[in-house]
Amino acid sequence: MKQIGNYLTIAIDGPAGSGKSTVARLVAEKLGLLYLDSGAMYRAVTVLAIQNEVETNIPKLIELVKTCHIEFKDNGKKILLNSDDVSVQIRTPEVNNLVADIAKVPEIRHEIVRHQRKIGEEGSIIAEGRDLTTIVFPCADFKFYLDASVKERAKRRFAELQTQNVDTTLESVEAEIRARDEKDMSREHSPLQAAKDAIHIDTTGKTIDEVVDLIVAKIGSRH
Ligand code: CDP
Repeated sequence: MKQIGNYLTIAIDGPAGSGKSTVARLVAEKLGLLYLDSGAMYRAVTVLAIQNEVETNIPKLIELVKTCHIEFKDNGKKILLNSDDVSVQIRTPEVNNLVADIAKVPEIRHEIVRHQRKIGEEGSIIAEGRDLTTIVFPCADFKFYLDASVKERAKRRFAELQTQNVDTTLESVEAEIRARDEKDMSREHSPLQAAKDAIHIDTTGKTIDEVVDLIVAKIGSRH
């Protein structure tokens, strides 16, 4: 049932603020896996659109995506777009508001998914996003769907932004998350949905360590 040679593939999907990035990063460290933040790639493409002022010129953006170079450094901590470190730019409110509209374009998804599968061929991996369990790695050895109430997800994201001194309010963070959920879940191509065989984890009221331990225990009991 392993997808690629003897490599282990773990896929996690879930909405914004469900904790998947933090959890996946920690599980990667614990188990010595490659970490793939698929959302960072859609965010980098959004930065590419902004830099080239082609946010609404989708044919031009598709051309640029086909020739751009996206690369991770430090096991997913840094992301380079055409050799520029865009790790900070990809998290701006401007990108938050635009990314779901860019990520719904099938030709863009096609390019990004190809790149993600290539990364998956490089070793044992834990990959997280919106379509990792359904489209990118449908034969992953382990699939998880992380969720939490929208209030809790907004609170977490707001707390995170406060530590980065981003000037925002809880209400606007909640509104941004609701808008992105709606777009990600209702789009025609690769909408966010739980794979039938994914293990659901409701992270509401759970600490990061509790979720990490749960996932490590599930993997440990079966591989
Ligand atoms: O960290 P957060 O959950 O806020 O978002 P992210 O994982 O960085 O993803 C940002 C956006 O990229 C999502 O809202 C989706 O629109 C898009 N995305 C996607 O379409 N497919 C993925 N596999 C990952 C992200």
